[in-house]
Amino acid sequence: MKICIIRYGIKELKKMGGSFKESEEYKIEQALKKRRIEFDLWVTPYRTYTIDKDFINKTFGKYNVIFVRDKRHYRTVGILEVINDLLDVPVPIINSAEVASNCWDKLVTTKLLEKENIPHPKTVIGNDNVYVSLKAIEKEFNYPVVIKTSIGSHGNNVFIVDNYEQAKTVLTKLSRGNFYKREFYIQEYIKADGKDIRCLVIGDKVVAQYMRTAVKPERRSNIHLGGKGIKYELNKDLEKIALRASNVVGGGILGVDIFETKDGYKANEINETPELNELLRINKKDEKKIINKIIDYLLENAI
Ligand SMILES: Nc1ncnc2c1ncn2[C@@H]1O[C@H](COP(=O)(O)OP(=O)(O)O)[C@@H](O)[C@H]1O
Ligand SMILES: [Mg+2]
Repeated sequence: MKICIIRYGIKELKKMGGSFKESEEYKIEQALKKRRIEFDLWVTPYRTYTIDKDFINKTFGKYNVIFVRDKRHYRTVGILEVINDLLDVPVPIINSAEVASNCWDKLVTTKLLEKENIPHPKTVIGNDNVYVSLKAIEKEFNYPVVIKTSIGSHGNNVFIVDNYEQAKTVLTKLSRGNFYKREFYIQEYIKADGKDIRCLVIGDKVVAQYMRTAVKPERRSNIHLGGKGIKYELNKDLEKIALRASNVVGGGILGVDIFETKDGYKANEINETPELNELLRINKKDEKKIINKIIDYLLENAI
């Protein structure tokens, strides 16, 4: 058994906060060592890939499973597809290129949620015609409203706007941004007091969960924006929506983010390389168990 871990460089991990030894990657690697499971590290920023069958088969064909822990999908989505499609004998990739693509673009995720009737915030796709987008807001929503780029993470491209003026400023700015992708999310603002629930789904189980709360006046719950975790007990409804949402993108090891609303749970987004630090901190007593469940899943799916 040999695992290939595709991940960040240590420098990048440190930039994300904390020391390498406190990071989830270190904990996973230590647990693998403890269980005497061999692995190689493939540190993305120091590697290039040749689109050549020999290269791909020689480099990746020797593994039993490939585990993707590089959260910068802007540089891995294409690579995963190349590895997946050029291997003579497919080595399972966790999560697969398809799952990564389904999660990476929020438009794709929301489309899949809608297709399977999984509750999610009402969403309109606006574009770089600012006035058309503003008209859509007027017609379909009440302020506050949420404007997002369909690709983004850590809350960086999520704008909660309270009025027409703010919406116009954000839309004008975004419409001059990425030349190749100007489909914007315009979304119902869910009144959940800056809170949402992060579920770690592994295969067909919710393995752990916690509630993320924005620290006021911030309304976005992302840990990278100062959000804090608190304990949250699993219940049948939460479990059901988390598993349905995970299945709809193809399943694997996923972070499913869910709003609790007065009309029940609504799925917001699904993270293909979930960060684990806060989840492990909140579920401290289960830390080893959670990491071992990740490893068990890799082993179960290995060839
Ligand atoms: N429709 C919404 N209603 C209320 N809050 C939202 C909504 N969409 C996003 N947020 C808040 O902003 C945060 C970041 O949005 P999200 O869609 O998860 O993008 P990212 O990929 O950048 O994390 C969420 O965790 C949530 O706290
Ligand atoms: Mg998010």
